[in-house]
Amino acid sequence: MPRVVKLAVIPGDGIGPEVIAEAEKVLDAATAGLDIRFDKTHFSLGATRFLETGETLTDADLAAIAGHDAILLGAVGGVPGDPRLKDANIERGLLLKLRFELDHYVNLRPSKLYPGVPGPLAEPGDIDFVVVREGTEGPYVGNGGSIRRGTPHEVANETSVNTAYGIERVVRYAFALAEKRRKKLTLVHKTNVLVHAGGMWKRIVDAAASEYPDVAVDYLHVDAATIFLVTNPGRFDVIVTDNLFGDILTDLAGAVTGGIGLAASGNINPDGTFPSMFEPVHGSAPDIAGQQIADPTAAILSTALLLDHLGLPGEAHRVTTAVEADIAGRDGSARTTAEIGDAIATRLQA
Ligand code: NAI
Ligand code: MG
Repeated sequence: MPRVVKLAVIPGDGIGPEVIAEAEKVLDAATAGLDIRFDKTHFSLGATRFLETGETLTDADLAAIAGHDAILLGAVGGVPGDPRLKDANIERGLLLKLRFELDHYVNLRPSKLYPGVPGPLAEPGDIDFVVVREGTEGPYVGNGGSIRRGTPHEVANETSVNTAYGIERVVRYAFALAEKRRKKLTLVHKTNVLVHAGGMWKRIVDAAASEYPDVAVDYLHVDAATIFLVTNPGRFDVIVTDNLFGDILTDLAGAVTGGIGLAASGNINPDGTFPSMFEPVHGSAPDIAGQQIADPTAAILSTALLLDHLGLPGEAHRVTTAVEADIAGRDGSARTTAEIGDAIATRLQA
């Protein structure tokens, strides 16, 4: 009996279906010949679905997705500013809802500058770090409201929620990851100003540090971290930080490592209570959708994170190695989305 992995696939909108087709192709190639079968269910979710049905993410959708072992997502969202999507609430009602309901408390975003990739830094050095962003707390929980809206006396609150439980579990994940890598953990926060939340993060990291004696612990204020990400990104191994800072830092990290076409991510529930979700960092790119010019590399690298999560690190490594080889051979000549996927899949068959 082969191992069966129930995989929920959410291609989404815009270039989502184009890049997910290539990710599936590579996933199949990487696992061909193994005693494993992916039982895939495709879910139609996103702006297109909303325009057709008025629904964003129903309870039935959520329950069906939760019954899977893992999720592969392309990108969701329509043309920014499209008035028909005013009430679609794709970011909060779909993406964040999945992350919160499925308790994706680790948002994992590796950043590596692959040989041959042009980046904006003149002297980038070796860049290879992972941001572990807390995914279920902070200012993104929706704990707020506004009154006197639209008047000169409007009041708006967006309260950041930080729990010792929530911080400790993500901090421990980050320490364990650092232990498997170059054994360096950098906490990023703003403890000098956000004294309550920052102070708790710092104390929890310091307390956990004694259990991971091999891991060197460092601390940076978030503003200083943005400087070092540009001037000396090589100093980072694992960064652990809150939801908001992590969101911002990972966009910067993506930029210094050659851009949005390469950045992969995992929304992980390490306990396995709910399926984890793997997706490229980029959005649905409506400006280039349907033209077969999107770079599927970020979606393909997301399948490597998926394979690793499924306990198949060897296959994950084969995917990243194939991607690395493909990137090294890029000479600037145009290839379609499918041609890039085919080339990487072919390397895996060799
Ligand atoms: P975007 O990431 O979709 O596009 C930004 C720019 O990068 C565009 O010029 C686009 O053509 C380019 N780009 C993105 N991915 C690319 C790829 N794989 N290959 C080549 N070029 C690529 O961000 P934008 O324009 O802010 O948002 C577009 C839509 O996507 C919006 O509806 C937004 O809400 C949604 N979005 C969804 C995300 C998700 O599903 N996780 C994340 C970010 C945005
Ligand atoms: Mg973002």
